[in-house]
Amino acid sequence: MPSPSHHANRRRAFLASIDSPVLLMAGGWTSRNYPANWFPFRADSTFLFFFPNPEPNAAALFDPKDESVTLFLDERTPADALWHGPVPGFAELRKALRVDAVEKRADLQKLVAKKCGKRAVRSVAIADPRATAEAAAITGERLDFHSTASVGDPDVLLVIARLRNRKDPDELAEMRIAAGVTREAHTLAMARTRAGIHEQELVGHVEGTFARHGCVPAYNTILSVRGEVLHNHSHDNLLFDTDIVLLDAGAERASGYCADVTRAWPVNGHFSPEARDVYDVVLAAEEAAIAAVKPGARYRDVHTLAARVLADGLVQMKLMKGDPDELVASGAHAAFFPHGVGHLLGLDVHDMEAFGDLVAYGKGRKRSEQFGTAYLRLDIDLEPGMCCTIEPGIYFVPAILRDAKFRKLWKGQVDFARAEQFLTMNSQRGFGGIRIEDDLVCTPGGREVLTAAVPKERVAVEALVGSGVA
Ligand code: GLY
Ligand code: MN
Ligand code: MN
Repeated sequence: MPSPSHHANRRRAFLASIDSPVLLMAGGWTSRNYPANWFPFRADSTFLFFFPNPEPNAAALFDPKDESVTLFLDERTPADALWHGPVPGFAELRKALRVDAVEKRADLQKLVAKKCGKRAVRSVAIADPRATAEAAAITGERLDFHSTASVGDPDVLLVIARLRNRKDPDELAEMRIAAGVTREAHTLAMARTRAGIHEQELVGHVEGTFARHGCVPAYNTILSVRGEVLHNHSHDNLLFDTDIVLLDAGAERASGYCADVTRAWPVNGHFSPEARDVYDVVLAAEEAAIAAVKPGARYRDVHTLAARVLADGLVQMKLMKGDPDELVASGAHAAFFPHGVGHLLGLDVHDMEAFGDLVAYGKGRKRSEQFGTAYLRLDIDLEPGMCCTIEPGIYFVPAILRDAKFRKLWKGQVDFARAEQFLTMNSQRGFGGIRIEDDLVCTPGGREVLTAAVPKERVAVEALVGSGVA
């Protein structure tokens, strides 16, 4: 957990960057069926950035006028202590958290009005709709978590993003621990892989590893022999000897910091000749893109470089035809690489994605309208302290490769007859997909790969698969 001064420093830096009060909400319990059956509580990431272990329903008012932070918490009741256990009192928390005041959550609206008077108060929409509606009622803003145009005042979002984007040593220490737990989960899944078990059994090893270390999955675990389905969340396939397993899973610490790692391996421990070629090209693209991460690098250029290496490999494999640069410029590489090369990472696995392209693209940069490249989630110039993923892949997606519109668009650039062989290999189940994903922090001298210890050399992966030990 970051040190107590970490959060206090963050709050001070925020207060120094705003010119009118800001109200932040942690969010509350959400129910999974009847009201009292809750999902595990997870505070909003910006709230987690400013406060350790936030309580459900917590709110905080940042007032730059007197440089104060007031925390609002639910009143302590004997019934809560009975059902959920005792929690520290307000006076104790005020001291431990180094805030100026702790007030009753029930008095939020009244006390914000009293303290701020006629000054404009701004807030940020969060995933919990009730907390967002309450913040909107207090501030008078239109707040909608599901519309990036209405997540909050752009100036406030940009201040938060500037702070959250530059990871300090405390935050990087958390991310390294998450990376270590994620390494253990991936290697265990590789070691326990064998034909005849269900994907769910490997998911148990992955998520059991997270739980043993006090972590949770940072996002729904993707573990599938249908790796071409990019966010495939079903786990009920049986593993066949000749399948390729794709695992995209990352641990999230109690502090909220997380990892996001993808590896792919053959169930029988031996890549087929075709799979070997695909794997090596994806790995080459990943390594080229990783090497391009450095201060000042434009993320779109990193993406284009990865696409260029993939296109070159696809030409070598006779799946594409033409000059790799031209294939990428025309967008044809998206026949096999239909997504962006990565995204920001931190307290959210797609860090601050809720803030929209205001943060992920910045001023004056617009999303491409090309299929595939339009999914590029990030297009900023990288700076030291920023964390991002690099995750190229090659997929054989029937819905793309057999689509009449795409066949016409990429006629002469994609060898659809050869692609069809990949769609029908493996006893008609198809090749699936291979993605390799690592987490990086941009450093003054270039980059550090936080997840470098997760095996990815083809031979090392083959040796681990089915070994039973990890
Ligand atoms: N795990 C989701 C992603 O890699 O973006
Ligand atoms: Mn990712
Ligand atoms: Mn991922």
